[in-house]
Amino acid sequence: VELKDKLDQASKGEFDHFMLKEIYEQPRVLAETVSYAGLPTVDETIFGDNASAVFDQVEAIQIVACGTSYHAGMVAKYWFEQHLGMPCYVEVASEFRYRARAKRPNTLLLTISQSGETADSLAALRDAAPGEFLASLVIANVDNSALVRESDLVFLTQAGPEIGVASTKAFTTQLVGLLVLLLAFGRRKGLDAEVQKQLLLALRSLPDNVEAVLAQRARIEAVSERFIQKHHALFLGRGVYYPIALEGSLKLKEISYIHAEAYPAGELKHGPLALVDEDMPVIAVAPNDELLEKLRSNLEEVRSRGGELYVFAPEEAGFESSDRVHVINMPHCDAITSPITYTVALQLLSYYVAIQKGTDVDKPRNLAKSVTVE
Ligand code: G6P
Repeated sequence: VELKDKLDQASKGEFDHFMLKEIYEQPRVLAETVSYAGLPTVDETIFGDNASAVFDQVEAIQIVACGTSYHAGMVAKYWFEQHLGMPCYVEVASEFRYRARAKRPNTLLLTISQSGETADSLAALRDAAPGEFLASLVIANVDNSALVRESDLVFLTQAGPEIGVASTKAFTTQLVGLLVLLLAFGRRKGLDAEVQKQLLLALRSLPDNVEAVLAQRARIEAVSERFIQKHHALFLGRGVYYPIALEGSLKLKEISYIHAEAYPAGELKHGPLALVDEDMPVIAVAPNDELLEKLRSNLEEVRSRGGELYVFAPEEAGFESSDRVHVINMPHCDAITSPITYTVALQLLSYYVAIQKGTDVDKPRNLAKSVTVE
C-alpha cells in the first residue's frame, strides 16, 4: 500500500489530487482528441472500415449511457437535432435495457462510456434485438474494452487514463467526439457549410478557451468557501446548458456530498422554487445566448426569494456581483463548444468545495470508477 501511495503521489505531479490534475489536462487532451479525428476533413476510417456506408444510411440516433456519459448524450441530442435535424433519443442504460422498445428504422445505437466496461451499457448493446438498429457505435476512452470490442464502429477519446472517480476529462473529450460525429454526419447530410466552418474554428480554439477558465481558479476557489456549511444546492441551465447543469450537480454531490439538483430553469416555478431560501445556493449556467433573458427572469425569481446566486456568465451577459450575487466571469467563446468550457468551471467549483469540506476527492465514498456489475 505504501508503495502504491508513493507511486500515486509521483504520478499526480504538482497536483494534490488526480481530479485536479485531470481537470488541468483538459486543454491538451481536448486538442489531442481533435487531432485524432483528422480534422478538418474528418477521417471516417478512424470509426471503422464500414463507417462511410453506415453514416450514409443513418436517419436517427439512439444514445445509451450511464452517469456522466449519459449527460454527454443529453448534450448531443441538442446538437444533433439543432444542427442536423436528426432525431436523437437518449436514455440511461439501466432503463433502456429492461424495457420493451419500439423498433426504430435506420437508427444508430450509440453508447458512450469512459471505461467501455459499464455493465448496463454493455448489456444494452448486447441485448439489442437483431435488426433493431442499423449499427452500433461506441465513444469510449479505453481501447480494447468490452464495448469497443463488441461495437461495429468506435471513436476513441484521447483523454488518457482517468483515475479520479468523478469523471472530468473523459466527459469533455466525449463531447468533442460527439462534435466530430456531428461533422462526419454533417458532411453527408447537408450540414450548413458555414456551421461546419464555425465548428472547425471553435474546436481549434477550445483548448485556449479552457485555459481561460482554468485561469479563473482563484475566483472559483474563493466562492467555493461559501458552500462549506450548505446541505443543498440547485443548478439551473436552459437548452444545451441544462445537461451541463446536471453534470455540475452530479459532480458536486459525488465529491462534496452536498445534495444537489439540476433543473431546466423554466421548470423552476413548477416546484423547486419552493425550496429557495437563504440557505439554498443557486448556481446558474448563464451564457449569452437566445435564452439569456428568460434565464435572467428566472434568476430574479430566485433573488426575490432570498436565494444566493452564483452566476457563471460572460461579461457581455451584463450580470453584476452584489451582496448575494456572485458572478464568475466566463471567457467569450463560440456557442457550439461553450458547454465544454462551462463544464470545466463547474468541475473546479465542485473540486474546491470538496477540498474545503475535506472529503476524499479522488475516491468518494460508496462510488466506483467503473461499475462492471449490476
Ligand atoms: C460510474 C463512474 C462515473 C461514470 C459512470 C459511467 O458511476 O463513477 O464517473 O460516469 O460510472 O461510466 P462509463 O465508464 O460507462 O462512462
